This record gives sequence, C-alpha cells and structure tokens, in this order.
Amino acid sequence: MFTIPRKKHFLNIEEFTSLCEREDVTLYIHCSPHNPTGKVWTKDELLEIKKICADNNVYLISDEIHMDFVRPKEDFVSVASIIEDNDLVLVTTGLGKSFNLASIPHSYFITKDRTITSDITTAMGSRYNVNTASSLALAAIEAAYTECGEWIDQLNEHVEGNFQLISSYIDEHLSEYLSFDVPKATYLGWISFEKSGLDADTVHKALVEVGGIAVSPGKLYLDAENKHFRFNVASSRTRIEDGLERIRKTFEHLGK
Ligand SMILES: Cc1ncc(COP(=O)(O)O)c(C=O)c1O
Repeated sequence: MFTIPRKKHFLNIEEFTSLCEREDVTLYIHCSPHNPTGKVWTKDELLEIKKICADNNVYLISDEIHMDFVRPKEDFVSVASIIEDNDLVLVTTGLGKSFNLASIPHSYFITKDRTITSDITTAMGSRYNVNTASSLALAAIEAAYTECGEWIDQLNEHVEGNFQLISSYIDEHLSEYLSFDVPKATYLGWISFEKSGLDADTVHKALVEVGGIAVSPGKLYLDAENKHFRFNVASSRTRIEDGLERIRKTFEHLGK
C-alpha cells in the first residue's frame, strides 16, 4: 500500500479515488510531469494512481510530453516503466516540445493493451488514411533519442537559469505581490499573485493592457478565481528579462 504525502501540488487521493469510483468516470488523463505546476511524480505515487484506476476499471492515459524537461533528469519515472501485462494503461508522448519538432507529425503511444493498439490503428487508418509512421518522422525520433542528449541537457540548463533569474527578480522587486517556487520540471513558471490581494480578472486584464504581456491565466487550469498565471520561460534570457520588467510594471501600476 502506498501513501502520498499531502503537500502543495500533490494529488488529493481521497477526492481522486471518489472520482474514479463514479459510474460515469471511465478514463483518467494524467499529466506527467505536470503542466502547469512542474510536479514530478514519484514511482510510488504513479503505482498508487495506477492501482486506484485499475480497482475502478478506469482507463489510465499518461501524457508525458514534458518528459525531457525534468531537473535532475534522473527523477523522471515514466508510467511506461510500471506497465504490466493486461494493464489498461496508455502512455502518450512526442518530441514536439523537447526538439521543436511539432511540424513533423510523429507523436506516439506505449501500451501493453493489444486491443487499444488495434482500435487506434484501425481508427487512424479509416479516419485519416494513415496508420503507419512516416519514414522522416522515424528518422527524426531515432536521431533525437540517440544523438541529441546533449541538446536536452543544455536546454534544461538554460531553462533552469531562466527560472533562477525569475526567482531572484521576484524576491528583489515583486515579493510584495508574487510568490514563486522554481519547478523541477517543464519550462512553465506557475506564479502566484495571491499575496497581492488582487482579483484574477484585474490582474489578467492589466498584464495585457498595462504590461503588454501574454501569460496563461490560472483559470484555464483551475477555477475562475485561481490566483496564478503561467509564464512560459522557453525563451532567450533577454526576452525573459523583458517579460519580468513588464510584469513589474503591471503590478506596480496595480499597487499604486
Ligand atoms: C501536457 C501536454 N500534452 C500535450 C500537448 C500537445 O502537444 P502537441 O504540440 O504535440 O499537440 C501539450 C502542449 O501544450 C501539453 O502541454
């Protein structure tokens, strides 16, 4: 039996279990590592989630597209590594993010469920007339996985540097309004403006109209009043600095 510590950004196991027990719940899509919080799931947590899904006959899909953005990389555990025969589990992923390969259709899934493999292949074939991978995509995937590890390491170093910059900038200039924990995964900063006491609509409107900056509002992921925004840091240091100045301008304007 596995237990998950109740900490920030952790799954509420009681609520998750009762949702899985509902008659109308047949599928759970798990995001690993988690977008937008950057949570990296441990093997015990994944085993517990898989067990709850199996006990309730809920199909588990693990979306692992952010798998390459984990710091340190050794901390990432793929659900693919815990699948057993006959598990109703599918792992989906692709290199669109890590290698900027979105223009080469190549995403793929890993499963031991032969029925779903055949159903997906048939559905893809009848709907899009495509049920085999393109040779260009296969070459791209192979090259990425066998020759480009260094690129991923450099990418994560750069992303980590951007996060450290954001963290010190917030401490120095915006601690009155914002709080931020450097995530262990993804290239997305999940920044809280709870401290500012401002409401979500006011902040998001001002970020666009005063700061001229587009971030993803927390309401896209949680409730309408959620007091976070998601800041994409997959960019050059200069653009991140510019973004931070725009965020500072926004909050200083709102705080007047
Ligand atoms: C968790 C997650 N899954 C899937 C996708 C979709 O990726 P793609 O660009 O391959 O459609 C995204 C893109 O933002 C994502 O964040």
